[in-house]
Amino acid sequence: MDFKFAPASRAALAELSCDALIVIVTGDASSQGLDGALAQQLKDALAQKDFQLKAGRTLYLHRPQGVKAPRVVLAAAADAGPKALRAALGNAAGVLKNSGAKHVAVAPAAGAALTAEHAEAVVAALADASYVYRHTKPSAPPAAGPARVSLLGEKADAKAVQQGLARGQAIAAGVTLARECANRPGNHCTPSFLAEQARSLAKEHGLKVEVLDRKAVEKLGMGAFLAVSQGSEEPLRFIVLRYDGAPRTQAPVVLVGKGITFDTGGISIKPAAEMDEMKFDMGGAASVLGTFRAVAELKPRINLVGVIPACENMPDGRAVKPGDVVTSMSGQTIEILNTDAEGRLILCDALTYVERFKPAAVVDIATLTGACVVALGNLRTGLFCADDELAEALLDSGRQAQDLAWRMPLDEEYEEALKSNFADMGNVGGRAGGAITAAMFLRKFTSKYRWAHLDIAGTAWKGGGAKGATGRPVPLLTHFVLGQAR
Ligand code: BES
Ligand code: MN
Ligand code: ZN
Repeated sequence: MDFKFAPASRAALAELSCDALIVIVTGDASSQGLDGALAQQLKDALAQKDFQLKAGRTLYLHRPQGVKAPRVVLAAAADAGPKALRAALGNAAGVLKNSGAKHVAVAPAAGAALTAEHAEAVVAALADASYVYRHTKPSAPPAAGPARVSLLGEKADAKAVQQGLARGQAIAAGVTLARECANRPGNHCTPSFLAEQARSLAKEHGLKVEVLDRKAVEKLGMGAFLAVSQGSEEPLRFIVLRYDGAPRTQAPVVLVGKGITFDTGGISIKPAAEMDEMKFDMGGAASVLGTFRAVAELKPRINLVGVIPACENMPDGRAVKPGDVVTSMSGQTIEILNTDAEGRLILCDALTYVERFKPAAVVDIATLTGACVVALGNLRTGLFCADDELAEALLDSGRQAQDLAWRMPLDEEYEEALKSNFADMGNVGGRAGGAITAAMFLRKFTSKYRWAHLDIAGTAWKGGGAKGATGRPVPLLTHFVLGQAR
């Protein structure tokens, strides 16, 4: 899908040539800035009660009289902001889904200047509407989106819009990559598959990549990561990606993604219901790959490191058992009270490993706890961060990208729950505050740098009829990385 800015006035939309024209409307009938045949069509549709100016409503007009475009979709939005634009466009794309329109023109609502965020919202809505997972279902009809999209607006807004379209398209490519990886079942998306994805990404975009195997991980002393992987026949991988966009002397931003390619729970095995969804337990890893995809295209002046500990969590005769004590790379010992709290075990060693980069900031991304889903549902990602400035930068990136997060607490009193009589810490607290105690566990490995943790258990995928990966939080992370560049 190719997106371009096109200068056009709303009053002259009836004369525009394209295969389909999407007109976003908001407010009341008198404030649409339309003229001629289109104004007439809208007035008539409202009078006949075939259309209402209520967010969510759409009306399809086929070869409307006096309008050059053979297809017109009127789509009502809640207001003239980017969020409402994204929602209304999603609805309009649904209406056009099985049409033959190849070139679609989008006329955003009157009444507000177009910003980069509007442009990003347009790309996100249309890319999202046209994504189809086909890798293991080739019978699914291929993506049916338009080949060309023109975003119409005033000349004065051209620069901001063009910037937003470029950013939006890079993010969309990153989101698609993340979805493609995460949607693959566990027998396809293995730790080795993630490593291959990193390798081909590096090759295509001139990134550096290094992949460590079990022997190298043993040498590093990653006892916690090794303990999780030891029940699986599938070999572990520890993946390190680098994008060098700034002088070597500039401290890098580091992203660490949880790469559990399937989480059975191990010996503390999960119930059967919905266990299939634990193929998405590498959503953090997928978001790191997706963010590198976007960043490699946008080329900001920054150094970025991506680290992905990847393995399966399986029950086995050799699997780690409740009560086993392991020594992490940091030297701290951990009593593994529940083998299903495996994410924090692979992450803690990765968080120690990244000390060597002397990072400006480290952000880990993980489908870490069911408790986070209970706390925040599926709308907002949980953000844990003791540094106010870093926390605000991440929250703001989420707002800009329409990929929201919510800050959660990290008071030291929560650490109490992790006490163990047999090791420096246990790997679980009680049921209460489960997302927070998980973050407190990670915090014990992050004293050497500025750190934030994103719990994406509720946001990385959707369940139910629309089951599938969302590609979140690639938009948030990409905005964050761009914002950290100098
Ligand atoms: N991958 C899961 C977290 C998860 C569960 C995400 C359900 C989304 C939906 C994680 O490894 C896990 O099993 N966490 C346990 C921790 C508990 C044993 C302290 C959980 O949340 O139940
Ligand atoms: Mn688990
Ligand atoms: Zn897990």
